[in-house]
Amino acid sequence: MCGIVGVLGSHEVAPLLVEALKRLEYRGYDSAGIATVNAGVLDRRRAVGKLVNLSDELVHNPLAGKSGIGHTRWATHGAATTVNAHPHRSGGVAVVHNGIIENFRELREELAAAGLVPESQTDTEMVALLTRHYLDQGLSPVEAVRKTLPRLHGAFALAFLFDGEDDLMIAARKGSPLAIGHGDGEMYLGSDAIALAPMTDRITYLEEGDWAVITRAGAVIHDEAGRLANRAEQRIALDQTRIEKAGYRHFMAKEIAEQPVVLAEALRSGGLAPTLPDVDFTGVDRVVLVACGTASYAGHVAKYWFESLAGLAAEVDIASEFRYRDPVLSEKSFAIFVSQSGETADTLAALRYAKEKVAKVLAVVNVPTSSIAREADVVLPIRAGVEVGVASTKAFTAQLLTLALLALKAGVDRGRISPEALAQRLAELQALPGLMNHTLSLGPRIAEVAEELSRAQDVLFLGRGAMFPLALEGALKLKEISYIHAEGYASGELKHGPIALIAPEVPVIVLAPRDGLFDKTVSNMQEVMARHGKVLLISDAKGVHEAGKGTWATLTLPDCPGPFAPILYALPAQLLAYHTAVAKGTDVDQPRNLAKSVTVE
Ligand code: F6R
Repeated sequence: MCGIVGVLGSHEVAPLLVEALKRLEYRGYDSAGIATVNAGVLDRRRAVGKLVNLSDELVHNPLAGKSGIGHTRWATHGAATTVNAHPHRSGGVAVVHNGIIENFRELREELAAAGLVPESQTDTEMVALLTRHYLDQGLSPVEAVRKTLPRLHGAFALAFLFDGEDDLMIAARKGSPLAIGHGDGEMYLGSDAIALAPMTDRITYLEEGDWAVITRAGAVIHDEAGRLANRAEQRIALDQTRIEKAGYRHFMAKEIAEQPVVLAEALRSGGLAPTLPDVDFTGVDRVVLVACGTASYAGHVAKYWFESLAGLAAEVDIASEFRYRDPVLSEKSFAIFVSQSGETADTLAALRYAKEKVAKVLAVVNVPTSSIAREADVVLPIRAGVEVGVASTKAFTAQLLTLALLALKAGVDRGRISPEALAQRLAELQALPGLMNHTLSLGPRIAEVAEELSRAQDVLFLGRGAMFPLALEGALKLKEISYIHAEGYASGELKHGPIALIAPEVPVIVLAPRDGLFDKTVSNMQEVMARHGKVLLISDAKGVHEAGKGTWATLTLPDCPGPFAPILYALPAQLLAYHTAVAKGTDVDQPRNLAKSVTVE
């Protein structure tokens, strides 16, 4: 959610800033901008929309300088206009910001009384105005920022650049991540290490409340109380190839196709055979799974597994609701936070709320250096590799795999799973990469179905048992990238209201492997067809043979016995959304209004 970059370099920085912003564009793409200092003169360029518009602007109005900051915006306060684009400048200071300054109204009144009137509708501009206010009083840039920071309420990552200062950049972190990169006589700043990957792999993460004075000689970091802070420099292993499209038309297509390899590698990560996580469930009375969006649907699927495989009570909460409803937490429970980015503000806030109230806080994350990972008691990395497409795909199935292994460990610790049953379950997981490969080969058939789906205005997804959360995920995926209205329902719930929506022009996608619930789901499907509903049945060969007659279309997946079929059935749901979006010509990797990393509440 908003990307920040900064460079104190030895060459022209504008191209470097734009290149780094490209790698951050997944965080927001409402507008972009850069500011540089050239021979002591601060200047900026900004453009609405994708980064390519900023690149065009820089062709017509180049910006020289070897020091600079840049920003890609996901709008919170103020529409996506040039005037609201970052960097915000007032007098001799330019600022880029990720997060929300909650007390911006009070600051605006105070500053207006001092004659400093904003030109934008943003909260960020107050930071520039306040710093300028202190500069005007004769304070140095460092002193001005030192005085500004405690006046700001809310969550933020900030970078400052100053007129007359070719060798100075100031960074501050409170609630939103920020990484300092070390080069040879150069220094960098980024919202994450991915942005800095082409320039350096030597990273220092700022901690909560930290602020840093950065020059080409290095960074002097202070903690919130103003004391000098010693933060370790780490070498980050970033697999460059994974950030490329590798011949695919979209990152999402690549990430869907990667899933067999991601799962196979994740299963092998502890050695030749899959290993269960090092978490002891003895004495644990409940797990509470907390997450947002797709990650919460992974939690919903896992609830079925914890209950059925381990006999362990499981609850799922949407992170943005969790801490506002007085959840009853026991000291014998585990709270499990699921997050691809590990930076989602709602999930992080929920983690902090739960931390002292439960026995242990577990983080199921893709980014092991993320805030959620760093604040959890136990980190379970999902090892999906960098996910660039805004719609989560491989992270979802990798989250499911990690949660499946965790549920198995709970089952073993609670004496619910014998060694034989464990071997059987692990074999089922190990079969998944092969079954996924087979499923991916259905791509062309799914593209045909999607062609017709792309003409629908509304689509319903139905599933029962652990396929119900998959129905929710299928609907979310479709709406977020194709902009078609879609809803997921538990099949049995249809007759309690949503059946009123059934009409020939409303496709109904039924996720129904031939398992113990198949007959019941098929009964609900028949209720739809009896009302001229247009059904796409996704099942295995037996299921399609028994129930496919009279449907609009069928997709035949390989047999996937055992409880882990939701991992496989995620693939056709993802492919349907993908091909529908392609057929509609929407922006698959960067759908409107969305951002990959949601660091505001
Ligand atoms: C949907 C999607 C989002 C995220 C959600 C949580 O495709 O990607 O719903 O799942 O914003 O993000 P993380 O997992 O980073 O906490």
